[in-house]
Amino acid sequence: MIKIGIIGCGFMGDMHAACYKALGVPVTAVADPRADFAKKVADKSGARIYESGEALIEQADVTAVDICLPTDRHASHAVAAMRKGLDVFVEKPICIREEEMELILKTERETGRKLQVGQVIRFWTEYVWLKEAADSGRFGRVLCGEFRRLSALPTWASEGWLHRPERSGGLAVDMHVHDVDFVRYLLGEPDTVTARAYRDSSGLIQQIYELYGYGNDVSICIEAGWDYPPSFPFDAGFRVKLEKAAVVLNAGVLTVYPQQGEAYHPELPAEYQGDNDVGGNISSLGGYYNELKYFVEGLRGEHPLEIATAQEAIRSVRLVKKGIEAAGGLILK
Ligand SMILES: NC(=O)c1ccc[n+]([C@@H]2O[C@H](COP(=O)([O-])OP(=O)(O)OC[C@H]3O[C@@H](n4cnc5c(N)ncnc54)[C@H](O)[C@@H]3O)[C@@H](O)[C@H]2O)c1
Repeated sequence: MIKIGIIGCGFMGDMHAACYKALGVPVTAVADPRADFAKKVADKSGARIYESGEALIEQADVTAVDICLPTDRHASHAVAAMRKGLDVFVEKPICIREEEMELILKTERETGRKLQVGQVIRFWTEYVWLKEAADSGRFGRVLCGEFRRLSALPTWASEGWLHRPERSGGLAVDMHVHDVDFVRYLLGEPDTVTARAYRDSSGLIQQIYELYGYGNDVSICIEAGWDYPPSFPFDAGFRVKLEKAAVVLNAGVLTVYPQQGEAYHPELPAEYQGDNDVGGNISSLGGYYNELKYFVEGLRGEHPLEIATAQEAIRSVRLVKKGIEAAGGLILK
């Protein structure tokens, strides 16, 4: 029987706990040094509380861990868990440093444990639709596109880790990786990467624009920024032009504009409808529910865990780093 241990009970740990509850998958242990955060997540399932991820991995009655820690703590916990014989879900970005990437891949090979990375956009319904539509060829090939992810400054991170680039990688590694990863999933590695970035007064990248070139004529623009005013609403979406249609995700609404005929909203698979305490409507669990459902099915042996592998996530972080270099490096001053 699958028993999950959630390590890190902040923003994502809480979200994942709600998903496991909706999926009916037992979370038997949680870990967080912030007792009130640990309790809130533990209360969803009656899980036992540990003060650290290390203690949970060593002592808890779990078969898999779900690592929702600040990014600089992903690799050490993922490796320790696999060495302990546990399967692993680890949030994106999988890790930042090259030596950590190599260690995760080596440990995965040596232990044979299952590992999935939280590249959640690969499981987000509208993006899943776009991927399937592009792969099917029914609208012809992709000609060009724009992907964006913009928000007000995130303020929730424990210890302020998100705004310390040595811990999070900064905006580009933490937030922009979502779209970089999805574009890689959609079209593969770009042939050319050009980029420009806006930096704040301390030199940190707060906005990045990347232009990926594929072959002679296909261009994809990817934009991310997270220093918009507090009143700015979160905005993520895309506009992709294919030979026979344009597909647009704007304000959460997916629209197809065919070369012939009227625009329409494609029918999307119904999302799980049930109660949860994240926002009253399960759609607030979005792709998180989908990715964890896929993870749990993979743990049960229903399919291989092949959509968001460590190797894929690592390639996406490397591509982000290439973009940062193309934009002049992480910190200019
Ligand atoms: N997929 C997404 O859309 C998405 C969104 C937000 C964050 N994330 C990722 O999720 C991860 C966590 O981000 P967050 O926003 O939840 O951060 P957070 O700061 O809200 O939560 C992290 C938690 O980990 C705890 N923690 C720190 N060290 C610990 C240890 N040794 N053992 C146990 N707990 C420990 C902290 O006390 C904190 O509660 C990051 O990698 C982030 O990039 C992904």
